[in-house]
Amino acid sequence: MSRSMRQWRPEDLDKAGRYHLMTACVVPRPIAWTSTVSKDGTTNLAPFSFFGGVSSDPWTVMLSVGRRRDGSHKDTARNILESGEAVIHISTRENEQWMVASSAGLDPDQSEIDHLQIATEPAIEVAPPRVADAAIALEAKRVHHQEVGRTPVDLFLLEVVRVHVAKDVLEGDLPDGAKLGAVGRLGGTGYCTTDQTYEIDRPQE
Ligand SMILES: Cc1cc2nc3c(=O)[nH]c(=O)nc-3n(C[C@H](O)[C@H](O)[C@H](O)COP(=O)(O)O)c2cc1C
Repeated sequence: MSRSMRQWRPEDLDKAGRYHLMTACVVPRPIAWTSTVSKDGTTNLAPFSFFGGVSSDPWTVMLSVGRRRDGSHKDTARNILESGEAVIHISTRENEQWMVASSAGLDPDQSEIDHLQIATEPAIEVAPPRVADAAIALEAKRVHHQEVGRTPVDLFLLEVVRVHVAKDVLEGDLPDGAKLGAVGRLGGTGYCTTDQTYEIDRPQE
């Protein structure tokens, strides 16, 4: 059965239309709840769903941070440009309200971590703190930065140098999707979760 399809050329849409169609099509997106530190020592925590795995040898992830309306860097991008370090937490059902709350625009000298009273622990390899109750935290160092696009975004490739996983989400040596309850971003204010998982066997490659 062939489906009746509607089609667009992204270039024919206005800027908001391009964003809304893309973020509703490229789903679900894992959410990098990202802590960084500024030059003056202010901690910062914010979520980003333009995030994904790139390579496992070495472990490399990509994080794409948009700009503010006035074209200036978001605090996360400025901090990664200056310090080269971040701790990326995988957002889960347990902390989703804090994750969303931390996306509020605070002044650069204000910390979302202090403002929301989020408990942290020191990271091991990098200066930004680790959110204490996050089930997965990835300590990461910048290996590449590039501006991408007409309304430029800051694309970072980060090497993960230390992985933390809460023992209660492990099945054997690996995180279990259902135990983890990771949160994915859909279009608009929509989210989904890995609470319900299933398996499909793969053919030989
Ligand atoms: C679930 C979620 C996902 C988000 N993903 C992105 C993203 O991929 N890129 C981006 O620039 N902003 C994204 N935002 C908005 C940023 O979190 C927001 O602009 C934040 O204030 C940036 O903080 P900072 O200036 O402290 O870095 C997202 C917000 C939410 C709630």
